[in-house]
Amino acid sequence: MRILSAATAIFAVLTTVSAARDSLPDCSGLPNTSPVIEPNVIPLKTVLNGQSYLLSNDSANYVYLAKVSGSPYEMGYAQGELFKDELPLQLLNYETLYPVMTQSVLHTNAILPDEYILMIPEWILIPLGKFLLDMNWYIALPWIPQRYADELEGMADASGLSFERLRRANMVPEIIQAHCTVFGAWGPATEDGKVYHLRALDWNPFTPINQFPAIIIYESNEEGSQTIANINYLGWIGTLTTMSKLGISVGEKVMLPREGSHDYPEWPQVTYFGKPWQFVLRDTTQFATNLADVYYMLNTAKRTMRIHGGWGSAPDHSFRGMDFAANFVKLYDDHNYTHYSNQSHPQMDGIFYLDKHVQPSDNQCIKNIITPQYGHITAETIYSNLIGDHRTGDNMWVVMKPESGDIWMASSQYGAPVEAYRRSPIHVRLGDFW
Ligand SMILES: *[C@@H]1O[C@H](CO)[C@@H](O)[C@H](O)[C@H]1NC(C)=O
Ligand SMILES: *[C@@H]1O[C@H](CO)[C@@H](O)[C@H](O)[C@H]1NC(C)=O
Ligand SMILES: *[C@@H]1O[C@H](CO)[C@@H](O)[C@H](O)[C@H]1NC(C)=O
Repeated sequence: MRILSAATAIFAVLTTVSAARDSLPDCSGLPNTSPVIEPNVIPLKTVLNGQSYLLSNDSANYVYLAKVSGSPYEMGYAQGELFKDELPLQLLNYETLYPVMTQSVLHTNAILPDEYILMIPEWILIPLGKFLLDMNWYIALPWIPQRYADELEGMADASGLSFERLRRANMVPEIIQAHCTVFGAWGPATEDGKVYHLRALDWNPFTPINQFPAIIIYESNEEGSQTIANINYLGWIGTLTTMSKLGISVGEKVMLPREGSHDYPEWPQVTYFGKPWQFVLRDTTQFATNLADVYYMLNTAKRTMRIHGGWGSAPDHSFRGMDFAANFVKLYDDHNYTHYSNQSHPQMDGIFYLDKHVQPSDNQCIKNIITPQYGHITAETIYSNLIGDHRTGDNMWVVMKPESGDIWMASSQYGAPVEAYRRSPIHVRLGDFW
């Protein structure tokens, strides 16, 4: 009896070990078990309208945080002063993206066969890239709120960098939207009934822009403005991932419709003549006070690119997914998403997701991760299992809890080939700063 139970115990240990090594069906990764970092908060600088801090536990695990206030120009100026040393380096990091960005535009628009695109030298790709970024800015300018130009102007004046270079870098996301995972869990799906929102950015993990991950907290004096935290890379003022103090959170994912499919109510259209999506998304967090406002703002915006997205909302205690294109915008809750499938994407109360693959996807990984955890989902389920097992967020990922202002995040390691989904979550309590 004793021998038998000892054997059973050993067998149990062995199966646990082997279970820990095997991926879940359809999943390509393993749980991320790197310990959570409660960072030291090191004050860096104080200027007229801002303070900056470094949140870190050592020289490899860090995120910059700054709080700026005032008018858009003043908030830009404060960022330029606070990061006078870092912004010039980060601008060079953004500029390393231009050749690949130009190749991707030529490829997407099928302007040349790929073998010719690959033959174009950098001395053509780089100026061509700058030209495309300039064109995009001028074409979109009638729809770009003056506030964004003012913020960049302030940043340029204080840092000594040229407005043109900062502006170009800020148009990169409009041209290359990224692969990502959108995940929301709330109400009956989560352990404490609160809303959890993941934005996992899957996009070239080893570009040097990961030198300066930054959270910029804006306390704008513009009418109707909420305090927001833009969770991004230094110098990018639009949204990659943003959350407001009031509790509206947002993250996006590129939409790649399949030629000839009827996956969307109408064929999703694209235009460059409109408000860049990063500014549309940031405005929803800065000016919306609930999901109805978010929908109104999305619906009335002059939309440009094809993207998916997710919104968490503390005021609504809920979450919405989104399909967005120049010609339509749809929000989905946990009942009316249009591509449920019992095999790969079952309807579950309090769950919305779009996995890292092209949508609709028949990959079962996320279903396999969350089914056993349903009703008990926590931030840890997301940063350990969802990020790790689904192997998503190679560049940066952020788990947000809009009702408490907590976030857990990581970006890929600067100067080393370590993807973000392998790295320790840095826990930031935004409530300590705003
Ligand atoms: C910081 O966190 C990382 C990741 O968990 C860990 O490997 C490292 O040892 C920590 N550094 C210090 C100085 O505690
Ligand atoms: C899904 O339901 C939400 C309300 O929960 C609504 O706002 C949204 O428009 C609906 N979406 C579709 C596509 O019907
Ligand atoms: C999934 O299975 C349930 C129960 O058999 C069924 O009611 C539902 O229509 C199925 N959903 C889909 C999207 O196939």
